[in-house]
Amino acid sequence: MSYNTILTEVEGKVAIITLNRPQVLNALNDELMDELGAAMLGFDADDGIGCIIVTGSEKAFAAGADIAAMAKHGFQDVYRGDFISRNWEQIKRVRKPVIAAVSGYALGGGCELAMMCDTIMAADNAKFAQPEVKLGIIPGAGGTQRLTRAVSKAKAMDLALTGRMMDAVEAERAGLVARIFPQADLIVEVKAIAKTIADMPLITAMMVKESINAAYETTLSEGIRFERRLFHACFATNDQKEGMAAFIEKRPAKFTNS
Ligand code: CAA
Repeated sequence: MSYNTILTEVEGKVAIITLNRPQVLNALNDELMDELGAAMLGFDADDGIGCIIVTGSEKAFAAGADIAAMAKHGFQDVYRGDFISRNWEQIKRVRKPVIAAVSGYALGGGCELAMMCDTIMAADNAKFAQPEVKLGIIPGAGGTQRLTRAVSKAKAMDLALTGRMMDAVEAERAGLVARIFPQADLIVEVKAIAKTIADMPLITAMMVKESINAAYETTLSEGIRFERRLFHACFATNDQKEGMAAFIEKRPAKFTNS
């Protein structure tokens, strides 16, 4: 499959999707979000893939939604066209683990796209912001919700009300970013992490993702109950038998994703 605005490659069980509109710092227009959704759902359906990386260029993961494309929109256009939800929400349908590898700018919708992924690994030159207020709009792809859950109300308010940029160190300290790597090493390091994840039993990894994501949507007691059901379901898989037998027999496990 070939795309105009993204590049895709596969290394073993890891799929890498690179946002590719360098002339506009990977500004996220409709075509890119359609293609990104299609590629991600395609890899999600591919039994050979265990983990997906979404990345950008050295200078920009993505500098936000495409301002030129939306500048003339009226309320009717965005409401009737279901702007943002229509294609951006596709990403949330992906059930396999997704890592955002962020180098350079992750601004507005770029920061929101990274937050839609399951974890964020950042280069030391990464910069995160929700600068929409400066354009007369509020974040529209989950920025006020996911950022608040990730970094606290105080910091989300600070960022979204001032529009200022937060560097990688601050983002990691605040809990938005899982790990930071030197820019030149980012993609190699994230590929290694993705390979580690892709080598895990797939059904179990999908359950980990589903259960952690449930923490965002439910009360603690409902979340614990949800986790317990999935935990019990693990004992119906062949990979639970294999994983535990391999431990006891002191040998590497051979998972079959079943
Ligand atoms: N949309 C469209 N084009 C963009 C863009 C965006 N979000 N961000 C950058 N570009 C374009 C610029 O217009 C410029 O194009 P030209 O060369 O044709 O002029 C090109 O990318 C390079 O950008 P700059 O010349 O501005 O590069 P810089 O290094 O001086 O600055 C920057 C980089 C600080 C990221 C700056 O480009 C910038 O502030 N961009 C906009 C960031 C922003 O406001 N993002 C939020 C968008 S709204 C949103 O995302 C809504 C939502 O919640 C979904």
